[in-house]
Amino acid sequence: MSKPRKTPEQLRSHRWFGVDNMRAFGHRSRTKQMGFAAEEFRGKPVIAILNTWSDMNSCHSHFPQRVEEIKRGVWQAGGFPVVLPAMSLGEPFVKPTTMLYRNLLAMEAEELIRSHPVDGVVLMGGCDKTTPALLMGAISMNLPTIYLPAGPMLRGNYQGRTLGSGSDVWKYWAERRAGNLSDAAWAALEDGIARSAGTCMTMGTAATMMALAETLGFTLPGGSSIPAPDSNHPRLASGIGRRIVEIVWEDLKPSDILSREAFENAITVDLAISGSTNSIVHLVALARRAGIELDLETFDRLSARVPVIADIRPAGRFLMEDFYYAGGLPALLARLADLLHLDCPTVNGRSLGENIAGAEVYNDEVIRARDNPLSPSGGLAVLRGNLAPRGAVIKPLAAEARLLDHTGPALVFRDYNDMEKRIDDPELPVTPDSVLVLQNAGPVGGPGMPEWGQLPIPKKILAQGVRDMVRISDARMSGTSYGACVLHVSPESHIGGPLALVRDGDLITLDVAGRRLHLHVDDAELERRRAAWVAPPPRFQRGFGWLNAQHMTQADQGCDFDFLETGPEPVPEPEIH
Ligand code: FES
Ligand code: MG
Repeated sequence: MSKPRKTPEQLRSHRWFGVDNMRAFGHRSRTKQMGFAAEEFRGKPVIAILNTWSDMNSCHSHFPQRVEEIKRGVWQAGGFPVVLPAMSLGEPFVKPTTMLYRNLLAMEAEELIRSHPVDGVVLMGGCDKTTPALLMGAISMNLPTIYLPAGPMLRGNYQGRTLGSGSDVWKYWAERRAGNLSDAAWAALEDGIARSAGTCMTMGTAATMMALAETLGFTLPGGSSIPAPDSNHPRLASGIGRRIVEIVWEDLKPSDILSREAFENAITVDLAISGSTNSIVHLVALARRAGIELDLETFDRLSARVPVIADIRPAGRFLMEDFYYAGGLPALLARLADLLHLDCPTVNGRSLGENIAGAEVYNDEVIRARDNPLSPSGGLAVLRGNLAPRGAVIKPLAAEARLLDHTGPALVFRDYNDMEKRIDDPELPVTPDSVLVLQNAGPVGGPGMPEWGQLPIPKKILAQGVRDMVRISDARMSGTSYGACVLHVSPESHIGGPLALVRDGDLITLDVAGRRLHLHVDDAELERRRAAWVAPPPRFQRGFGWLNAQHMTQADQGCDFDFLETGPEPVPEPEIH
């Protein structure tokens, strides 16, 4: 990294503040309007803090305080911090799914950075889609960038038992549906499951994406594992504030950090932590922003050699707080050192290998030894077949093993409403061997691929004591979910993918070892069905939903907007006049 240090005149913000013309006069006088003296901002790196705080994002409720700590660091290092609020995308509240708005936030991040006098960027995210969205925008802009992960919340607590976000909700909800849980117990669970600021503390999408952002090199070592309420977290924030000013002078940009090797590292970690299936879609999108093509086969190829060593729910037993005490991500990376490209650069100016040198695991139950993994391989599996020509994914560890090689008759739901209406009908023609199929839940059909892929087990099957069935959809599922759920079937049914052609009673084979998803209907019959297939009416005539339907790519391509994927040319700078 031997670029010459920038001079103040070479700062991007110099065009706004440093020149002698009428516009620059305006920029300076308006900054002074906010009470800043010229010596506080002239010639200094302007650091944008993209803050995804809102009263509708419970996972980011500590961000108002963290903003102050980032600013403190920026001031200390001689920068000028400015907060730019961005869409907050609180996972529990946004309907039908935050995924519909990931690209909107990505676009907002890109345009916020582009249009303002900014030299460097701190991204504040953590709740599910905020991390990939912010990174996507920042990668396209390619200014020096550091990411502050929100950090996981504390462990949940219920009558002395540990509770995990999401995972235990599904589990206890199934028990409640089965009639085994009183109103009082249900209320006590509600009181105990979310005890502090921070993201879901299972290995859901948030914890997964925070870890992958760190692996890619976008935050300071160990940052992604620190629980939000731990005092190490504000110290991380001020450290990021100091470091971002420095990398503006060094001109260390996302394009200096990202490479195919960095993405392979991220995939390796994703597999070793048995990360959220959502991360596949996000990593593909991030890579494409960086001009790197990641196909699903890369995930599958690496999956064969990467052991699952993080024993964290939903795949394992522990929670992110335990992971932190066990040494956190640096310790896990150190355990995987021989599987990683250690020379990849990171934002602290050192390589991944240098950052993890000396990192130790303090608890072998939470971060397992390589010779005692949760599973020797297979954190994720990519399936293909006539039902998913462009791929589908499953998390084998989250499924009951007996279902990983299964053939059964399809029971088809046209869409989510149809499923909700009929799933608990005592007359539903369903057996534990049935394969539940949900159509019209993909990127365009959902819209936004909602997390509907973990279809509920029908009540009458629950009553038989069965807790898992094969389920297939073009939807996603929450990273905290589990079950034999085949997800992200591509192309999706709404645009005429083969999933649209399945009918009740068709036999379907799921063969995870063979990586196969097969619909036992011959080609001629499928052709007949395709000819008779009528496309569902468009879901939106206007607005963002319409834009989404026109431009969102399929799951195997990352669900980005086609017009946002970055070409070889840099994003154009705004003209200032
Ligand atoms: Fe915010 Fe799970 S709801 S991370
Ligand atoms: Mg989630």
